[in-house]
Amino acid sequence: MRNSLTAALDIGTSKICCLIGLPGEGESIRVTGIGHHVSRGIKSGTIVDMDAAEGSITAAVLAAERMAGETVRDVVVGVAGGQLSSRLIDMQTGLNGGPVRDVDLRRLLYGGTPETEPHRVLLHAVPVGYSIDGSNGIHDPRGMHGHMLAVHVHEVTASATAIRNVTTCVERCHLNVSDVVANPYAAGLATLVPDETGLGVTVIDMGGGATSFAVFLEGSPVFAGSVPVGGTHVTNDIARGLATPLAHAERLKTLYGSALPSPSDERETIVAPQVGEESGGTQNHVPKSFLVSIVAPRIEEILELVRAELDPVGASRIAGRRVVLTGGACQLPGVPELAARLLDKQIRIGSPAGFAGMAAATSGPAFAACAGLLRFATEDTGDLRNHAGYRAPATDGLLSRLGPLGRIGGWLRENL
Ligand SMILES: Nc1ncnc2c1ncn2[C@@H]1O[C@H](COP(=O)(O)OP(=O)(O)OP(=O)(O)O)[C@@H](O)[C@H]1O
Ligand SMILES: [Mg+2]
Repeated sequence: MRNSLTAALDIGTSKICCLIGLPGEGESIRVTGIGHHVSRGIKSGTIVDMDAAEGSITAAVLAAERMAGETVRDVVVGVAGGQLSSRLIDMQTGLNGGPVRDVDLRRLLYGGTPETEPHRVLLHAVPVGYSIDGSNGIHDPRGMHGHMLAVHVHEVTASATAIRNVTTCVERCHLNVSDVVANPYAAGLATLVPDETGLGVTVIDMGGGATSFAVFLEGSPVFAGSVPVGGTHVTNDIARGLATPLAHAERLKTLYGSALPSPSDERETIVAPQVGEESGGTQNHVPKSFLVSIVAPRIEEILELVRAELDPVGASRIAGRRVVLTGGACQLPGVPELAARLLDKQIRIGSPAGFAGMAAATSGPAFAACAGLLRFATEDTGDLRNHAGYRAPATDGLLSRLGPLGRIGGWLRENL
């Protein structure tokens, strides 16, 4: 664990959040600075207006610095969009029947790793399990005998240009990007308990412009991805459906929105001012059921899109029965129930856990990803490419990340 101050920056579509903290007592992380600001210039988790985004980032970081009473230089940044993609790669090496030595592991992990596809950068490379002569489920193969040693490595990549835009924008704010992390992975680190990551769980971060997800099994992330739809789309649908300004649509959504119909919906009436006639003009009176009929299909669509990513690769099967929903948009009433039905899983809402000093306003699901970034930065997560000499993700290829200082879980690192 690093002992110094660390800063996490979550550049979301709805809000930019900056947390400053350091390792606290026991398992917890002590948060000393919190700053958040409405997001400008971000669409579906991707930067579309550099100047606007720069202004929002600076405001969030300044607020966190003021609270912490310290200035930060290095930040760990999360990405939710950027076309996250995930694959499991197999690497193997011969053993000549002898016991597995450290040199065998080095040859396995550092020799002849497949290249990252063009125009993609590697965000994570996590070894998720070894096998010897076809026997799977080995966590530490050292000392075991066999002829063929293999490892599954979970790689998460993102669009190179999206990442470059994020790093450029952050650097324009006089900050240094020390690490880039896939947001759903961070959301899992903040919200999941060891029993869940051990048995299998899917974490779904329903944000403003993107919904990202990660599957954890036996303690490691084994699948991750994202779909470019989130709570903002629900708001846009309401604005269009009721011909009301976006600010009113957002308010109606948080006050009365629901993804599930209820018998009282026909009796309750909501009032929506019409676009262009906000001050004393025409107002639309509609039953609450009309709002539900706009919200529910969009939430269903988001969940179906997530399922369509998880099912073909068997991710929902290996993830067991548990889904943890997080992100601001999962707070819409009825979302957990709808998710339980559509995904056929047990659902719970996940908020950041194990953080001391989080203000009440930032302890909800919308801040899970940012809290997870802080945890990623302060703890050893066993990521192959996340080592001290790690360069900003501009270079291509896994090999360049796997220098001799590779941080690959405590037990292996000791021998490098
Ligand atoms: N109480 C609430 N009820 C319903 N929706 C809510 C509530 N609070 C926040 N939201 C919605 O959550 C969304 C924002 O979530 P979040 O803050 O997690 O997004 P973000 O991290 O900025 O975006 P992204 O991760 O997609 O880039 C918005 O669409 C907002 O309307
Ligand atoms: Mg987010």
